[in-house]
Amino acid sequence: MPADIRSGYEFLQPETQSLQDDDFANPGFLWIDKGETLFNQHPDNGKRACASCHTEDIRSIADAAAHYPAIDEQTGKLVNLEGRINLCRERYQDLPPLEYESDDLLGLTAYISSLARGVPIAVDITGPARKYFDAGEDYFFLRKGQFNLACSQCHNEHWGDKLRGDTISQGHGNAFPAYRMEWQTFGSLHRRLRDCDTGIRAEPLEYGSETYTAVELYLAKRAEGLAMESPGIRR
Ligand code: HEC
Ligand code: HEC
Repeated sequence: MPADIRSGYEFLQPETQSLQDDDFANPGFLWIDKGETLFNQHPDNGKRACASCHTEDIRSIADAAAHYPAIDEQTGKLVNLEGRINLCRERYQDLPPLEYESDDLLGLTAYISSLARGVPIAVDITGPARKYFDAGEDYFFLRKGQFNLACSQCHNEHWGDKLRGDTISQGHGNAFPAYRMEWQTFGSLHRRLRDCDTGIRAEPLEYGSETYTAVELYLAKRAEGLAMESPGIRR
């Protein structure tokens, strides 16, 4: 684990940093605006809007994004923010789950993450969360793919080095969901993880898979104290 935790932001070109810093130019705000609209919208079926349950006095979600993934108390399973949003749709709005990487799910995730901008990451890995943390850590150190590489080899041992025009960062998830130039669109952390797995010619896992969600928990614990910065801009 790197001794001093540094956001991927520090490894970006100055132009990319300024785009992230400018709320008017940062394209991530298109998704945030969409998410905010959805958050306030009343579903057609007469159920309550997200906002009507999540105003300050009922259950604040102001910094929730900095504390996810977390255990869902009703099922005992680990959920990330996307999973939590979909649980609320199913449980409290009688609506079907939104598809991973759909603009609606990215929008809601982006909106809720943006509320937590600047909040230091802190997740709970005790109790039922422990086994997920362990599984995420195992995956991080697992050598795989045609190149037989582990996440740790790039992001623990080689951060700061150049790789195909990128500077390898410490591999933190604090900027996600983020806008990537390479995608020319906004995407989730799981999309980024799929790209890293594909990069070493390993089979990427499904969006929302239990293993990627466990890796997400491991990454969050590993980045503890780092400020949330979604909507990030990345190369
Ligand atoms: C061959 C080296 C390599 C391996 C192995 C690798 N990555 Fe990456 N990863 C990169 C590069 C290059 C980038 C883009 C530049 C950077 O590091 O932010 C990146 C980006 C990331 C980011 C986004 C960081 C940011 O601030 O935008 C995360 C998170 C990440 N990797 C996690 C992982 C995880 C988890 C694994 C294992 C499943 C993994 N990576 C395996 C090279 C690698
Ligand atoms: C009828 C009320 C209700 C509605 C509508 C609702 N939620 Fe929730 N939400 C809850 C409750 C209660 C919890 C606590 C977990 C649980 O019991 O499922 C929660 C938990 C959450 C959390 C995690 C908060 C934390 O601190 O862990 C987020 C984020 C969230 N909801 C987002 C949403 C979004 C986005 C929508 C709309 C798509 C929505 N909720 C709709 C009641 C609601």
